[in-house]
Amino acid sequence: MVSAGNVSISSSSSNPRSVSDPNPHSDTDPRFYGRRKGKPLKAARQGLLESLLPHVRIERPEGPLDPTTLFAFKPTALRLEIGFGSGEHLAAQAGENPNTGFIGSEVFLNGVASLLRYVGAANLANVRVFDADVRLLLPNLPDAAFERISLLFPDPWPKTRHAKRRFVSPEMLDECARLLADGGELRVASDHPVYQRWTLQHAAVHTNFQWATKGPEDWRTRPVDSVATRYEGKAIAAGRKPAFFTFVRRNRAA
Ligand SMILES: C[S@@+](CC[C@H](N)C(=O)[O-])C[C@H]1O[C@@H](n2cnc3c(N)ncnc32)[C@H](O)[C@@H]1O
Repeated sequence: MVSAGNVSISSSSSNPRSVSDPNPHSDTDPRFYGRRKGKPLKAARQGLLESLLPHVRIERPEGPLDPTTLFAFKPTALRLEIGFGSGEHLAAQAGENPNTGFIGSEVFLNGVASLLRYVGAANLANVRVFDADVRLLLPNLPDAAFERISLLFPDPWPKTRHAKRRFVSPEMLDECARLLADGGELRVASDHPVYQRWTLQHAAVHTNFQWATKGPEDWRTRPVDSVATRYEGKAIAAGRKPAFFTFVRRNRAA
């Protein structure tokens, strides 16, 4: 059990690492193009990185990882959020679904600190954090582990010459299809027309996914069980129209 302010979280981690020794990225790992650090952190957020992160952090696995063992309870289901940004969506989902285990991945340290604020304030025992490139975690997770994977407002990399940097790719869609249980959902939101088209060009035609849509009124509207993220707010304030795509994992037996 760890206490930090009003935080009191049971931990399954017996040997938490210090924040000065984050999940490392080696020269042979896939290249990451985004930001890892932003403005200097305020003392309170730095304090959360030091006191709380070691207890909720997922260490970079060296072999297969059973994600249910990350929690101090047996989750009834698992969800994954890739690039959770400031963590408001992940924290809200975790608060509403206390029996579900949530794994969030984020490379940007300031975002990790922001999520920890929510985790601490609401004492969310069902959140675990991989504070590194999610591609270093996914291969170690088992098939059909998740009921939902969320990828909300990923960096669009709109220039054609940067298309290889986009998270949505045939390889990542294969990996998400492997990780999702039959009937599980891959949710992708984007406010960028290039990324919206790109996502449909790849995910809507993927053999293991079915685009769950009846018409624009559903993909133009955020799913009712989710909250707006910071990037959604920025997009709408700038006059851009977000799209919320849901792709359902087809049954393996079919
Ligand atoms: C445009 S921001 C959107 C953040 C948040 N989902 C939102 O809607 O406000 C994209 C985020 O994805 C993170 N990210 C990009 N690639 C990632 C990766 N491979 N693994 C983990 N996080 C990643 C970035 O650090 C960044 O914070």
